Amino acid sequence: MNTVEIKNLTKKFGSTVAIDNLSLNIEKGKITGLIGADGAGKTTLLRTIIGLLFPNDGEINVLGFNPATEKDKLLEGYTKDGIMHLPLGYMPQKFGLYEDLTVIENLKLYADLKGVAHDFDRMLEFTTLAPFQDRLAGALSGGMKQKLGLACTLLGNPEFLLLDEPSVGVDPISRRDLMKMVREMISPETTVLWSTAYLDEAHSFDTAVVIDRGKIIFNGSPHDLAPTPQEFENKVIDLMGGYNKEESLIAKNYDYKAPNVELTVEADNLEKRYGNFYAVKNNTFKIKKGEIFGLLGPNGAGKSTSFKMMCGLARPTSGTARIMGIDIKKNPERARANLGYMAQKFSLYGSLTVRENLDFFALAYGISILKKEEKVNEVIDVFGLKEYENTKAEELPLGLKQRLSMAAALIHNPPVLFLDEPTSGVDVLTRRDFWNHITSLAKKGVTIMVTTHFMDEAEYCDRISLFYKGETIAVGTPTELKQQAGANDMETTFINLIKESERGKS
Ligand SMILES: Nc1ncnc2c1ncn2[C@@H]1O[C@H](COP(=O)(O)OP(=O)(O)OP(=O)(O)O)[C@@H](O)[C@H]1O
Ligand SMILES: [Mg+2]
Repeated sequence: MNTVEIKNLTKKFGSTVAIDNLSLNIEKGKITGLIGADGAGKTTLLRTIIGLLFPNDGEINVLGFNPATEKDKLLEGYTKDGIMHLPLGYMPQKFGLYEDLTVIENLKLYADLKGVAHDFDRMLEFTTLAPFQDRLAGALSGGMKQKLGLACTLLGNPEFLLLDEPSVGVDPISRRDLMKMVREMISPETTVLWSTAYLDEAHSFDTAVVIDRGKIIFNGSPHDLAPTPQEFENKVIDLMGGYNKEESLIAKNYDYKAPNVELTVEADNLEKRYGNFYAVKNNTFKIKKGEIFGLLGPNGAGKSTSFKMMCGLARPTSGTARIMGIDIKKNPERARANLGYMAQKFSLYGSLTVRENLDFFALAYGISILKKEEKVNEVIDVFGLKEYENTKAEELPLGLKQRLSMAAALIHNPPVLFLDEPTSGVDVLTRRDFWNHITSLAKKGVTIMVTTHFMDEAEYCDRISLFYKGETIAVGTPTELKQQAGANDMETTFINLIKESERGKS
C-alpha cells in the first residue's frame, strides 16, 4: 500500500523548474529518507505533497486524496481505537514556535489548536525538555527548539509524518533521541517522509530517495546502495556528481595581514548567567594563530552563548575574551574588526538580494568601492551563488543561506573566524567544500573557532573543547580525546565523555 502516489509531477517558480516530471510512490508504514543537494527541490516536494503548493502538471495522491483540491480532507481528525488521529503531521524547516510562550505553553497551545489531548509528561521526558518546561521557547538553544518542534508535530498521532530536516543543528545524542522519539511514538502503520542532510541517518531508513535538480536519481534501500553509512555517504556524493577537490580559491585569494601575536583568541574565566542559570560557567581557553579550534557539545551546552560573548554581542556576567590581544569588553569595536562571525541563526537581511547583502557587508567592513565588486564577484563565484545573486536572502533554501552567511563572514578577510554551525543544513557536497576552505584558510594562518554537530567534521579540528552544561569537560586533539574516552570514533568519544561527566556529577 502506498501513502503517496505521484505521477509526472512538475512544479515551476517562474522559469525555475523545482520539480521536474517526477514520479514517486511512498510506501505505508515505512520511513523514507529524502536526500538532495541544497535547492534540489526537497522542501518544494514536501509542500506540494501537503497541498501548500500547487503543481503545474502531473498527478498527486496523498492518503487517497488530491492535496490540491481536497486539502480539507487531509486536515480532518478522526478517532481510531479510542485515539484521536490527524492525517498529516508536518514539521517545516523553520517550525513556528511561539517564542514568547514557554515550552509547556507551546505544547498545550499546539494540542489545543489541533484539538487533541496528550500526555505532555511523556513528551517532555522524550525531548529531555522537562527541566526547561517553563523556559520561553525563544530562549532555547537551536537544537532544543528542534526537539520542541518535533514534539508539537507528533501531537495528534499523525498517520503521515513529514519532517523537513528535523535534525539540523541537533547534537549526536539528541539526534538518537529524535529518531527514537519518532520510532517509538508512531504506530507501525505510520508513514514517515524525513528529509535530511545526515547520511548516517538516511542509511538507517527503509528507503532513501535522492533528488537532484527536481529529478529522482536514486530510489531504493540504502543498504542495497552501500552496506555502511560511510560507504553510503560516498556513493551518494558520487551520484550527486562529486565535490570540488581543488585548492580553495577563497584561501588562495585571501589577502590579509598575518597576526603578530601567537595567541589570537583567548577566553578568560568567561561566564554568562541568566537568573540562577549558568549558560556558560567559568570558561578559559586559548587558541593559537592558524589553529582550527572546535567547540563541541550537546544542545544547550553554551557554545553559541560563548560565541556571542566573544564577539561582543552578549555581555559576559564576568570574565572577558581577547581577540588578537584586544579585550572585547574594553575595546569591542577594535576587537571585532579582526573578526568574521557567522551566527547560528541566519542573520543577514532577508529582504535584500544575495548580491545586495554581500555589497552591504563589503562596505560595512570597509572594503573600498574599487575593490568591492571584484570581492563580491569572487565570493559569489566560489560559493556557487551565481544563479541566486538576485534572489532575496529570505527565499533561499537553507543550505544556500548558510553559504551566503559564510561568504559574508569572510568577505573582509579577517584574521580570525568564528563559525557557529556553518554546515548545519548544508548538503554533503557543500560540507566538504566548506571544510576545504576552512582547512586551507587555517594553513594560511587564519584562526578558526567552529562548532559542528557532524562528528566526522570534528576530525578536521586541530583541537577540540568539549562543552557540557556551560563547562569545558575535555580539551585536546581528536586523537587525545578518543584515547581519553577509550573510543575509535568521535561520536562514541562524544557520548562517552558526556556520560562520564554526568556520572562524575551525580
Ligand atoms: N536569554 C536567555 N534566557 C535564558 N536562558 C537562555 C537565554 N539564552 C540562552 N539561554 C540558555 O542558555 C543555554 C545555552 O544556550 P546556547 O544557545 O549557548 O547553546 P548551544 O551550545 O549553542 O546549543 P545548540 O547546539 O543547540 O546550538 C541554553 O540552556 C539556553 O536555553
Ligand atoms: Mg548554538
